[in-house]
Amino acid sequence: MNDFISVNLIKLKNNKIPNPEIDLRILLNYSRCTKNEIILSNFNKNQINIKKFNSLLKRRILNEPISKIINKKSFWKDNFYVNKFVLDPRPETEGIIEEAIKLCKNNKTHFKILDIGTGSGAIAISLAREFENAAIVAIDISEDAIKVANKNIKDRNLDKRINLKKTTFENIQGDFDLIVSNPPYLSQKEIKNLSNEIKKFEPKIALFGGKDGLDFYREFSKKIDKNLKNGAHLILEIGASQFCDCMEIFRDSGLKFIKKSQDLQKKDRIMIFSKI
Ligand SMILES: C[S@@+](CC[C@H](N)C(=O)[O-])C[C@H]1O[C@@H](n2cnc3c(N)ncnc32)[C@H](O)[C@@H]1O
Repeated sequence: MNDFISVNLIKLKNNKIPNPEIDLRILLNYSRCTKNEIILSNFNKNQINIKKFNSLLKRRILNEPISKIINKKSFWKDNFYVNKFVLDPRPETEGIIEEAIKLCKNNKTHFKILDIGTGSGAIAISLAREFENAAIVAIDISEDAIKVANKNIKDRNLDKRINLKKTTFENIQGDFDLIVSNPPYLSQKEIKNLSNEIKKFEPKIALFGGKDGLDFYREFSKKIDKNLKNGAHLILEIGASQFCDCMEIFRDSGLKFIKKSQDLQKKDRIMIFSKI
């Protein structure tokens, strides 16, 4: 193996970076100054900008996730721009899109969708693509997150279909056929025990759900009924151990619990309600 490759692989390994070969290849390609894709086995130093590579490697060694370094994270059928102001969209959240597709079999329906806490805009954009006649409102309380969502929406020419607003769910007007949300739901204890990758590089506003993690659900369950049409649905992501608490919280919400769905680890992660 080329010396440059082995020295840098060792640096990543010594710093306990998982999947060092994959990360090294991504960083090399992100610093390349040639057209062709770089592969480790026939690497040549002339293919990259060494200064750029060294600075990216240093960031990775300090535990910054690859997605934040290259400003790109894949979700559902797309790659989204991400930065330190938005949570990286995660595979378990794709369950929201799957459930929406199951609920609304006719993808040509003209319906109104609200995405609460849109972050990068990944959910709103994926739904806009799956449901070509849906009108979507996407909201977030973070000004910086709104800028990221705006970039992702504009890059895809979806700004006529997705109405982006900096606001909190308490201020939402109008009634919707479908409301989706992946809110902040980590407890104080869970925040303390997070890996450095998440603790240092994901925005706290996207993660922290109050002392027991359930603050958002408590407030939301009292108010959301008025924003749903009769027969409309709510699809909500929850933390891996929050199903029973959320059932209790939503008991008096005026909504009917329909079903839950699990992530790949078989944890309950999505709850679906309807307004009768
Ligand atoms: C867990 S992140 C979800 C981001 C994105 N929807 C996703 O699934 O990848 C939660 C988002 O909710 C936003 N948020 C937190 N409290 C909110 C509130 N009361 N109203 C609207 N957005 C809120 C945060 O700024 C953050 O972007």
